[in-house]
Amino acid sequence: MKSSSSVLNKSMQRVAKWSSGQADTGNALIHGDNLAVLNMLAKTHAGQVRCVYLDPPYNNGESYQHYFDSMGHEEWLQSVSARLEKIKLLLRTDGSVWISIDDSELHYLKVAADAVFGRGNFVGTIIWERRTTRENRKVLSRNHEYLLVYAKNIATWSKSRNSLPLTDEVKSRYKNLDEDPRGPWQSVSANVQEGHATPQQYYSLKAPNGKLHSPPKGRCWGFSEQRMIEEIAKNNVWFGRDGNAVPRLKQFIANRTAGLTPETLWRADDVGTTSQAKKHLLALFKEISLFDTPKPEHLIQRILQISTDPGDLILDPYLGSGTTAAVAHKMNRSYLGIEIGEHIKTHCTHRLQQVIAGESGGISGLMDWKGGGGFDFYRI
Ligand SMILES: C[S@@+](CC[C@H](N)C(=O)[O-])C[C@H]1O[C@@H](n2cnc3c(N)ncnc32)[C@H](O)[C@@H]1O
Repeated sequence: MKSSSSVLNKSMQRVAKWSSGQADTGNALIHGDNLAVLNMLAKTHAGQVRCVYLDPPYNNGESYQHYFDSMGHEEWLQSVSARLEKIKLLLRTDGSVWISIDDSELHYLKVAADAVFGRGNFVGTIIWERRTTRENRKVLSRNHEYLLVYAKNIATWSKSRNSLPLTDEVKSRYKNLDEDPRGPWQSVSANVQEGHATPQQYYSLKAPNGKLHSPPKGRCWGFSEQRMIEEIAKNNVWFGRDGNAVPRLKQFIANRTAGLTPETLWRADDVGTTSQAKKHLLALFKEISLFDTPKPEHLIQRILQISTDPGDLILDPYLGSGTTAAVAHKMNRSYLGIEIGEHIKTHCTHRLQQVIAGESGGISGLMDWKGGGGFDFYRI
């Protein structure tokens, strides 16, 4: 640990620096109230942040070990709105904001966030399955919570957001039934709805082994007869193993340029649960008290995968146990994490030092994380 003067912002003091090398990383943990810090960052970081993840206290009346989660409803709403106003100034044009929230305040927060970002920039609501076991002590077992997603500018963001990589399940749909040298393929329908069909799209098609096929009622062939003959000659049409089945078009995995469009239902199997996140923290913080409400690293990884690229700047104004910073670090993004509680010292810095040293939990395996990098610690 080294000590030096401020580089992030004149109003902040750098009190410590952890690094595996000499170079400044731009990564910072900032100890203080996030509204005050956001006001300072507005002077130095306007228009620079690609993604903001917010995990505020949900105002659900609970009292956790590291913070209280009980405010008057109006006070809570005003407090989050004031922060969203500042965050909007920090966003890049292709930036986005992801807010974790549960049932207690979701609908009020949606209206308040609409007022800040504009209803037109609302991207959607994601449902995250946060637990897979039944909570029998409650009237309803709340197994999911939400992510509200906003773009700074929906038109720009729609073009710049990333697709998700193909899953093993999707890849397994591609087979090579005819040992085509171009590799695995899947078959898709060769007929389409007849909406804007031309007369050339209605004809009988003879399969290689003689059977005649016509498009079903209300549909036509996707190609004219001439084009279909060319596609058959190029071995792009599949008539089944017996050469007589309804023709289907071959789509090769090698030609697939787009990944998967992100869905709005995020299963625990894919992005983890609160209890898995706690187990990860237990392994990290053997000697210190467990943080009650961590998010799993896989959940944050998916957000950053969709909304950012390597080198982009990420902001988390409610850092908690440091999950967003740890994930951004392992994904080679820059980050600013703000936290008011003392656990920024006891938990976040401790966690990130382990990340620098090559910690193997959370998404480390997925990212092939071996350690490195650094971060600075500021107070205001
Ligand atoms: C739900 S927790 C965040 C958990 C985090 N996502 C994680 O994975 O560990 C909310 C955090 O916001 C912090 N917080 C609440 N009000 C704040 C404020 N005004 N400024 C900075 N941090 C604040 C709390 O201390 C708490 O650590």
